[in-house]
Amino acid sequence: MHEQRSPSFEADIRPLFRDLDVEHMRPLNVFLDDYGFMSKPENATMVLDFLTGKKEPKMPPGGPFWSQEQLDLLARWMDAGYPK
Ligand code: HEM
Repeated sequence: MHEQRSPSFEADIRPLFRDLDVEHMRPLNVFLDDYGFMSKPENATMVLDFLTGKKEPKMPPGGPFWSQEQLDLLARWMDAGYPK
């Protein structure tokens, strides 16, 4: 396996969320654009679980749902220890 650069929140994760996602979730106290929120393991895990459909309703409601590549990127960022 060749080595991959760790994803960072600013460069790789924040851009996965559309303005629509950020704006719809903020009133529900889910701060998708906020590193302080997203870097808490329980919050990132909850977000990932809604994106995969492990928790319902699968997000974003009605889709388009994230590709496996996008889901893997989020999971890899979490595994890497939430780099900013
Ligand atoms: C902690 C994780 C999350 C929870 C608990 C959550 C929960 C909810 C709930 C309860 C609603 C309103 C009910 C509904 O429209 O079905 C909603 C709406 C929405 N969520 Fe999430 N969500 C989460 C993460 C996300 C993520 C990661 C995205 C996108 C990447 C997202 C995008 C949206 C959008 C766009 C809406 C508005 C849908 C509309 O009004 O048409 N949410 N979410």
